Amino acid sequence: MFEVLELAPPDAILGLNEAFQKDSNPDKINLGVGVYKDESGITPILNCVKKAERILLEEQKSKAYLGIDGIKEYGRLSRELLFGPDHKFLTADRAVSIQAPGGTGALRVAGDFLHTHFPASTVWCSTPTWANHPKVFEAAGLNVKSYTYFCPDTNGLNFEGLLNDLKQIPERDIVLLHGCCHNPCGVDPTVEQWKEIADVVKQRNALPLVDFAYQGFAEGVDADAAGLRVLAESLDEMLVASSYSKNFGLYCERVGVLTAVGKDASSAEVILSQLKTTVRTNYSNPPSHGAAVVSSILADASLRTEWESEVAAMRDRIASMRKLFVAKMAEHAPDRDFSFIQNQNGMFSFSGLTPDQVKRLKEEFSIYIVGSGRINVAGITSSNVDRLCKSIAACL
Ligand code: LMR
Repeated sequence: MFEVLELAPPDAILGLNEAFQKDSNPDKINLGVGVYKDESGITPILNCVKKAERILLEEQKSKAYLGIDGIKEYGRLSRELLFGPDHKFLTADRAVSIQAPGGTGALRVAGDFLHTHFPASTVWCSTPTWANHPKVFEAAGLNVKSYTYFCPDTNGLNFEGLLNDLKQIPERDIVLLHGCCHNPCGVDPTVEQWKEIADVVKQRNALPLVDFAYQGFAEGVDADAAGLRVLAESLDEMLVASSYSKNFGLYCERVGVLTAVGKDASSAEVILSQLKTTVRTNYSNPPSHGAAVVSSILADASLRTEWESEVAAMRDRIASMRKLFVAKMAEHAPDRDFSFIQNQNGMFSFSGLTPDQVKRLKEEFSIYIVGSGRINVAGITSSNVDRLCKSIAACL
């Protein structure tokens, strides 16, 4: 049977990692996959995570299965992180959560759930979006289309184009929005713009699905939920896929959560029952470790304070690398303006490099950037920035 199979192309993002590992150049630079690195180029384990793991090692009494929806406390704390502890969704029991294997797992549970119950609905993704978004929803059987988002001329948001496109979408379709730190372009709507987006989504009777993988990487853990909370003011139903890969540095533990909001508590109960059916027929129930770490940190005042300051340190380092990159590019390629990179949020920026330039950087300089020109700014350090900017300048 297997003889008829053809070789699949490497993944646009994770495939780069495989190529990077094989590269023997000691000066190679990986700005591909969205993983935070510190000044020494290491993806560190947060101190608060180490502390929580020590406590868990001592105190965990059983490895019995979790419930299908995972650790209840983890779900509750995740909802608080999204909406704030006293939000109407929480006090009225309108929000439910499924612990998921990573943010991608949460998106796929959402995709399977939507395809089972609303097979005619299309998922609308921004142009551009995370390379895996369309694939996840298509694999779930859903139709995927795109709406205008980034404007290459201004390196900012094409807000008029975005609104015009959203105004055209059929009722009961799904609008995928990036909660903050847009992946791949680092351009987010303002709070005022979120209000207008919420109005259009409401007018169209559409369902927002918010991908929230970078909470804490733009301005702060609470501040970064501003857009989501604007949607929550006017919309009765929504789905939110969150990930703790980046903000807890728990990439390999696959820690995510899918939160669904219904119009009242009984609707939320029905949604949860259906989400549980989706999970049971897929991976049965989630792994425990990463979610246990996250809930121990969020539930403990001192670990939580330490976590927030560790997130702030990652955020600040990325912001300083944006500045340094812009300054170095101005030195090495004075004719080309890269200053927009300083105004963008989160781990990524759209560099404007063409696929050919990206290819040259890889082949001639062992510098790995996603084909779209997306740069993981968190992979820049003060030791590699000079070689990076010189090499980019040589390819312009
Ligand atoms: C990325 O966009 O690089 C990350 O979210 C990792 C991934 O799975 O693609």
